Amino acid sequence: MVKQIKKIGVLTSGGDAPGMNAAVYAIVRHALKSGLEVYGILDGYKGLVEGRIVPLSYNDVSGIVSRGGTILGTARLPEFVDAEVREVGVKQLKKHDIDAVVCIGGDGTYMGGLRLSEMGIPCIGVPGTIDNDIPSTEFTIGFDTCLNTIVESVDRIRDTANSHHRCIIVEVMGRFCPDLAIRSSLACESEYVVYSKDTYDEQEMLRVIKEDQEKGKKDFVIIVAEHTIPVQDIQKTIKENTDLDPRCTILGHVQRGGRPSAFDRVLAVRLGIFAVDLLLQGEAGKCVGAFGEDLVATEILKANELPKKQAQDVKPCVKKI
Ligand code: F6P
Repeated sequence: MVKQIKKIGVLTSGGDAPGMNAAVYAIVRHALKSGLEVYGILDGYKGLVEGRIVPLSYNDVSGIVSRGGTILGTARLPEFVDAEVREVGVKQLKKHDIDAVVCIGGDGTYMGGLRLSEMGIPCIGVPGTIDNDIPSTEFTIGFDTCLNTIVESVDRIRDTANSHHRCIIVEVMGRFCPDLAIRSSLACESEYVVYSKDTYDEQEMLRVIKEDQEKGKKDFVIIVAEHTIPVQDIQKTIKENTDLDPRCTILGHVQRGGRPSAFDRVLAVRLGIFAVDLLLQGEAGKCVGAFGEDLVATEILKANELPKKQAQDVKPCVKKI
């Protein structure tokens, strides 16, 4: 017998991502329309444990679809792995009579949702992260906007590299997922991309640069995924082995901000509605995803066991161009 839910909470947790607000908007509006009361849990699991929980009305989410960041605030709370800490969170939810929660974030956020589900609070995860590192969805909310921000930034970097006949090494985010590096490299004609420690080949990179120079090329952009090779090491290698005077740019948190792209907004709205529908059907401990037109729900445990994505579809193109 499915327990009838009356009140739901929504939270955003982990690194913010453009489009999280569009998900919050869809969850709140669809839940209200379905006869539920909705509460916003501020600053993710941290706000949950601290009891910072506020009612959300129709108007509270007006005009937020186009805004970057998350109106709910976000945080990382590693202590949430601790059952005693989670118990405090459960008590806060019970105090507000909240029956179920939609948790927007990455795999850490999903695990928090799974554990709460096991403690009797049904949760559904919605993939919100720029990293695109969640295999139970083709794209995560925020990835497309972030990719476009990187592309726009690298286009600007290319202008100055071109004017000064320089090599500029650009570090992009992505945690341990190479998608942002590989796709931005393809979109920006980068001369070389370092997307993993294992595949980095210093000699190959130098050979590519030298061959390009022989063809008359004078400007170079090398994209490097964070947590692979330090950009300063690559700079040193190029300086010592070529006649170039390379510079480094770490794009940093500019990649996480900004107005979400239309793609991210649409994805977020679709997934937000789907998450609420799953809670209404009595589901728990699952996460939502989209593959093309299809929406899918996957057990969080299974989702976290799926092989990490490796940009399989686009990776071969890097070598061909
Ligand atoms: O997960 C999103 C992300 O931006 C990663 O790409 C990056 O490694 C990390 O968060 C940075 O985290 P913080 O903002 O805590 O430095």
